[in-house]
Amino acid sequence: MNSIASGTVLITGPTGGLGRAATMSMANRPVGERPDLLLVGRAGRALTEVAAEARMAGAVVREIGCDLARLSDVRAAAQQVRELLNDGAVRPLHGVVANAGLSTADTHTASADGYGLTFAVNYLAHAQLIGDLLDSFTAPGRIVLLGSNTYYENIFRRMLSVAPADWRDPIELSRPTAADVPATLKLSGTAYSNSKLAILYYAHELQRHAPAGVNVTVFEPGFMPGTGLMRGHGAAAQRIGQAIGRLPGVSSPDSSGPALASIVLDDRWAHLHDGAFVVKDKEREVQPFASDPDREARLWDATAELLKSAA
Ligand SMILES: NC(=O)c1ccc[n+]([C@@H]2O[C@H](COP(=O)([O-])OP(=O)(O)OC[C@H]3O[C@@H](n4cnc5c(N)ncnc54)[C@H](OP(=O)(O)O)[C@@H]3O)[C@@H](O)[C@H]2O)c1
Repeated sequence: MNSIASGTVLITGPTGGLGRAATMSMANRPVGERPDLLLVGRAGRALTEVAAEARMAGAVVREIGCDLARLSDVRAAAQQVRELLNDGAVRPLHGVVANAGLSTADTHTASADGYGLTFAVNYLAHAQLIGDLLDSFTAPGRIVLLGSNTYYENIFRRMLSVAPADWRDPIELSRPTAADVPATLKLSGTAYSNSKLAILYYAHELQRHAPAGVNVTVFEPGFMPGTGLMRGHGAAAQRIGQAIGRLPGVSSPDSSGPALASIVLDDRWAHLHDGAFVVKDKEREVQPFASDPDREARLWDATAELLKSAA
């Protein structure tokens, strides 16, 4: 029996794109290599359908309805997870895959708690969920966060005109764009890239706070045109994405979903920790500025402030 698959894996964003493919890849594994699954997503048909499909494949599955843009929902989801674990309704928690994400075109859009939506869903909601569940892990445990190479210059980023990260104090980064500043493609790209740089900083700091035996990794699936990620960006962005999608070497949920499932489940990745950055199936160094103990410590403290003021 594989050590992670002997327990439960929670995944956020199982309803579409990469998360759905990773969920089904885990569910379709043979008995003994298949974890119980906690599917955390917005309540509705898409969640019910993926849960039903994963059950049909033989997995024990619990759906947890949660809008990650509402921190009270996230706290309630964590409470539900703790109850399921305490009741023995699922096996011990060995894995969390913080997959859900979005990129808002209009950075004026705020979460239910008043934070910029991209920062709130991609980063803050996962920091709340993982923080609430940190004591519920049974070692060996793995936390896999979703990164993106858009945080710095890369070829797909430039082709898509996604602006790189522009780091500032996290309290400032958490704010939606002021009403008197027009929304632009650059602001939208910067917000997305900042949220993914936050994931890298958070991953490094999280490892310092995680219980012994719980390892933190950041996974970058490669550019996957055609997922729902850019759904708010209009037809032109979709067309550019589809054109780039025909280039060789471009990823898809069909290729990266199983790779993500492998990172959380397979023994070959058991050595990953400290926020190791894996692009598809290769460990990569991050840019020197993406590993910064001062920024990481500040992000940790600012996150506690942001979550507390929304409680
Ligand atoms: N696509 C790429 O090229 C690419 C590249 C690098 C990294 N990534 C990362 O990969 C991850 C998955 O992205 P994807 O491309 O698969 O996008 P996707 O198809 O849009 O899937 C995103 C998932 O997140 C969920 N989600 C979004 N907002 C939510 C909310 N408020 N509450 C609950 N769930 C919410 C979505 O659920 P709903 O259906 O309910 O909205 C969906 O299940 C993201 O973290 C993304 O940043 C993607």
